[in-house]
Amino acid sequence: MDDPLETFIEGLQRQIFEETRAAYGDLGFERWRRPLYRGALADADGHGRLTGTCGDTMEVFLKFDGERVTAASFLTDGCGASTVCGSLAAEAALGRTPEELVEITGDTILERLGVFPQEDRHCAFLAAATLQAALGDYMRRAPGASPP
Ligand code: FES
Repeated sequence: MDDPLETFIEGLQRQIFEETRAAYGDLGFERWRRPLYRGALADADGHGRLTGTCGDTMEVFLKFDGERVTAASFLTDGCGASTVCGSLAAEAALGRTPEELVEITGDTILERLGVFPQEDRHCAFLAAATLQAALGDYMRRAPGASPP
């Protein structure tokens, strides 16, 4: 016989998953469930750390080989939406040069998502701004690097 509590919890989880997929879209839902690129990079060449007006803090780590980003990651103490956006910001940085990185904005992340709740759109801009802070840190540290 089914355990009513288990059945209730399963139903609740299904409902949360359905609502999150509808709100974040397929890609956002996947990253919410499995936030790729989450974690610190111990040997990062660039590190950005920003706190948004919402009070959440985002960090972005960049590792370069020559002119291109070979590894990128993020950390956040924020909500699921900031996790999704941090993951996509790190992904967007991979393989990019500084000149290409400066083109990445909150809109880049939102366009990739396709749909995202209006009230969570600022998370994409925090993620992009943190990525730019990490790039700025790299440019300050890199010997002979010229600003993009
Ligand atoms: Fe703070 Fe999303 S709610 S970054």
